Amino acid sequence: MKHGWADIERSDLEPIAQAPHTARRRAELSARFPGELLVVPAGNPVVRANDTDYPFRPSSDYVYLTGDQSQDAVLVLEPAEDGGHESVAYLLPRSDRESGEFWQDYHGELWDGRRNSLTENERLLGLPCRDVRTLPERLAAATGPIRVLRGYDTGIEAALRDKVTAERDREFRVVLSELRLVKDEFEIADLRFACEATARGFEDVVRVLGTDEPTPERRIEGTFFVRARTEGNNVGYSSICAGGEHATTLHWVRNDGEARPGELLLLDAGVETNNLYTADITRTLPVDGRFTPLQRKVYEAVYAAQEAGIAAVKPGAAFRDFHDAAQRTMAEHLVSWGLFGDRTAEEVFSLGLQRRFTLAGTGHMLGLDVHDCAKARTELYVEGTLAAGMVLTVEPGMYFQINDTTVPEEYRGIGVRIEDDILVTADGNVNLSAGLPRSADEVEAWMAGLRG
Ligand code: GLY
Ligand code: MN
Ligand code: MN
Repeated sequence: MKHGWADIERSDLEPIAQAPHTARRRAELSARFPGELLVVPAGNPVVRANDTDYPFRPSSDYVYLTGDQSQDAVLVLEPAEDGGHESVAYLLPRSDRESGEFWQDYHGELWDGRRNSLTENERLLGLPCRDVRTLPERLAAATGPIRVLRGYDTGIEAALRDKVTAERDREFRVVLSELRLVKDEFEIADLRFACEATARGFEDVVRVLGTDEPTPERRIEGTFFVRARTEGNNVGYSSICAGGEHATTLHWVRNDGEARPGELLLLDAGVETNNLYTADITRTLPVDGRFTPLQRKVYEAVYAAQEAGIAAVKPGAAFRDFHDAAQRTMAEHLVSWGLFGDRTAEEVFSLGLQRRFTLAGTGHMLGLDVHDCAKARTELYVEGTLAAGMVLTVEPGMYFQINDTTVPEEYRGIGVRIEDDILVTADGNVNLSAGLPRSADEVEAWMAGLRG
């Protein structure tokens, strides 16, 4: 097995399209930590059993800074004499034929497939690449301040145990999260594609949704998954395929029920692109194609709330504004339906009583992670100000639990959410998921059109 293998090194590779962007992102990170050694692992695969691993997905911060998706890789920013940093990607090189690693190690290339050589990766990523197996020695020899992104590579963390502190590493994680708040043009284009592919996945679902017979939620999940794996890398999070009363369970990912004609299907799903950016879109669909009057009443209230929320997304607005606008609108509708007795909408909203039925926050940042930038400081995110280039979801919903005795029986088991992915622009916003209809009439017409 050692001999007789032709050289298949490639010399025709061009840098990945993202390379200029990742270089700029690394420069921004460098400027935040002058003189410090910065370590960002991609992570290691998790064993499922024996020689079988769970599907690997690299850490989002590693992807953001390199555009690479290798497992067992580590990005290191080494302090340079000019006060900046030299970035180096530490990667697994190609499997060694001489030592037998190529075929005796079950993660050798004979089993897992060809890897890029370090030279090939240098061309692709536009930064120096070294053998990751030399990194522990390099880290052991390092002097001066070091920070590591924790939670992805126990080996690297062990090598750095006596050289880092939890507090400083927490600060590092926060800055990494905050760097991702404003998206660059590559990211925006990718998120736009994620939304477009997701819209096609929703169309696929409508085509398999039975008008006379129930449709298993797992069939819906599988149908969307085919689109996600065909046009992208995966789903960006577990698809929520919630028929009937399951729609009132916010994280319904068991998907072991069915969507029945006469009921609603709440579908919350997103295609993750090959660059690992994800959409996060929800539509609540009448399974047989027509909303009942009560379903329509609830749907139109949520739609009005979403319209109010989207209108509040603009640069300079507080992040909370769209949440407040949507929640206030839903409080008004709930009060008008008599669900809060004599209380006024203002009273209900100011006390937050509508939350019994609206449950969640109205949206979040979106990007490489579905709940993107989650470690950013409160003052820059939840209590911060929107800026052009941010991408966030606006996703109001109303959920009436099946056993909620405070609402008339006919409401119980109805759950409606409408979720879109909104880009903040210089003068307002653009709905990246506008390819899917939102109003009740548009949804019915769209479903009828797809069913022919
Ligand atoms: N799909 C998760 C969310 O909407 O936040
Ligand atoms: Mn969602
Ligand atoms: Mn969401």
